[in-house]
Amino acid sequence: MQTINRLDELRKARAALGGGKLALVPTMGALHQGHMALVREARRHAQHVAVSIFVNPRQFGANEDLDAYPRQLAADQALLEAEGVDLLWAPLPAEMYPEGYATNISVTGVSEGLCGAARPGHFDGVATVVCKLFNQVLPDVALFGEKDWQQLAVIRRMARDLDLSRPAVGDILGLPTVREADGLAMSSRNAYLSPTEREQAAALPRAMKEAISTMGRGTPVSAALTDLVSTLVAGGFSSVDYAEVRDADSLQPLTELGAGAARLLVAARIGSTRLIDNMAV
Ligand code: PAJ
Repeated sequence: MQTINRLDELRKARAALGGGKLALVPTMGALHQGHMALVREARRHAQHVAVSIFVNPRQFGANEDLDAYPRQLAADQALLEAEGVDLLWAPLPAEMYPEGYATNISVTGVSEGLCGAARPGHFDGVATVVCKLFNQVLPDVALFGEKDWQQLAVIRRMARDLDLSRPAVGDILGLPTVREADGLAMSSRNAYLSPTEREQAAALPRAMKEAISTMGRGTPVSAALTDLVSTLVAGGFSSVDYAEVRDADSLQPLTELGAGAARLLVAARIGSTRLIDNMAV
């Protein structure tokens, strides 16, 4: 595996891959089995696999965890090497955003509410960096996790709206969330949890499943969501940023279940750690 941190070298390495499709898995590193599932799936879609690791300052708010975000390049390299990844693109912030950098991509609609409300500017940062990563690596296919459901919707909207062709919107693939044995969605931020908080965190997917099954039995959406919030607070969560049922594709809020696919999306805090999860309703 080649680790590359300069754009001119990336372009040479990209050209040297020759024929065959290239798949890209964008990440911020601190890799876990959720990321590795994307890497393994990438191999099924392309001869060559590239992974990017870039802790993107533009998607972190002023009071967020940019400095604390786990960075462990050597361990990540070993994991990717073992999976036979061809290219690791790990640029420094000055390579991604050189002096005078001035362009922003802002997706409206799907980026509003949910994490967009709790983290102003976050999805501009995501859309901008992902567009740059696509233009830098020029992948035929890109893989993302459904763990970040709204992020995936924002990226697809951006690719469609900007007529991206590498990858085209149909080649942006979403993969189901990989979970720990107790149901907690894997996340680099789980490393912030104390042992007690880690145990309490499993209440999130448990309460979400319960809310989905009560809605299935006819409990109104609003009542199921109120119960969900109470259960989380009683279970040790310090606050709930949002708990909503939305149309799975448009992300329009839903007050009742209809014929279309619906998604339950939740963000909640344990201590100062913010956890997100989503499930099909
Ligand atoms: P990061 O949080 O490192 O996640 C990288 C990719 O892994 C994302 O597509 C995310 O949805 C996926 N992922 C994370 N946890 C997962 C899990 N438990 N199961 C399945 N997939 C999982 O998301 C980002 O980085 C950044 O916003 C990025 C897209 C790289 C732009 O900076």
